[in-house]
Amino acid sequence: MADPGRTALTDALGRRISYLRISVTDRCDLRCRYCMAERMTFLPRDQILTLEEIALLADLFIARGVRRIRLTGGEPLVRRDIIDLVRRIGRHVGAGLDELTLTTNGTRLAHHAQALADAGVRRVNVSLDSLDPERFAHVTRNGDIRPVLEGLAAARAAGLAVKINMVALKGVNEDEILPMLHWCDDQGFDLTLIETMPLGETGEDRTDHYLPLTQVADSIRRHRALAPIPHRTGGPARYHAVDGLKARLGLITPLTHNFCADCNRMRMTCEGKILMCLGHEDHVDLKAAFRQGGLPAVEPLIDRALRLKPAAHDFRIGAGAAPAVRRHMSVTGG
Ligand code: 5AD
Ligand code: SF4
Repeated sequence: MADPGRTALTDALGRRISYLRISVTDRCDLRCRYCMAERMTFLPRDQILTLEEIALLADLFIARGVRRIRLTGGEPLVRRDIIDLVRRIGRHVGAGLDELTLTTNGTRLAHHAQALADAGVRRVNVSLDSLDPERFAHVTRNGDIRPVLEGLAAARAAGLAVKINMVALKGVNEDEILPMLHWCDDQGFDLTLIETMPLGETGEDRTDHYLPLTQVADSIRRHRALAPIPHRTGGPARYHAVDGLKARLGLITPLTHNFCADCNRMRMTCEGKILMCLGHEDHVDLKAAFRQGGLPAVEPLIDRALRLKPAAHDFRIGAGAAPAVRRHMSVTGG
């Protein structure tokens, strides 16, 4: 429950911060080309917050007025005992927290879907860039699509609302966007398309596959009318109704259309760093203070983090451009 004795989280530009994304691990069982390098060095385990530490920090953020929490990674479901954390945070749903959600690659969803639903999760975002097993294996560097499809079926059976996240990649899955939209509609899922963001070295040049979503939306419109709708899920996606379909189409356009003015988000990395923007290196490290002084030592740091929130990210994509930030999405959480 938000604690009336505490000031709510508002940044220097008056933006109310009510949405926290928590990366629970930097590890993942896939190696998507736009996200990770083939060989990744993961963080040593003692640098990573324990589940207990994450739970206590989440309690504090909820007391400070955070209303939605999304668990991400890396792949959150590869973290051992993750369901304990989901249950712990899930207790706040309906009592301070409006929603607890999860972003997952789906490989272990079949195993966890029912437990997630039982713990109070109502929606999951599942990353799926292709329905073709070979292409899926290519994009994920050797991933197997079958458990993901089983996971999606299990999520539906458990009553979880599913949104598919698809990173639009020129020359890779461009021709699958319309079929994916129809597939999502058949399955009762929504679809969100994402522009590749320049986060972390991947050993590949993202410019080669950058596909502006303005262009994608135009090509979808040649088949079906799109009408902007006010539906919001707390994040940066802007939704459209698709003529003749139930599936909603979300567009996340960090490059073609900046959405920072009404940003309500902050992130906590798996190391306990607070990031006020995915596109900036500035952060406040909570871990050392927390391990020495407990939650009272953390509170002033959260206020410092709020003052750091920049007006906007500054992503650019172009031949040879260095990533905007060196860290990978897997550390910060999607
Ligand atoms: N650019 C865009 N999307 C990314 N994701 C991971 N890395 C990147 C990137 N560099 C996506 C994943 C997942 C979501 C959380 O973010 O595919 O769906
Ligand atoms: Fe793993 Fe997600 Fe990154 Fe793919 S995009 S490597 S599934 S964290």
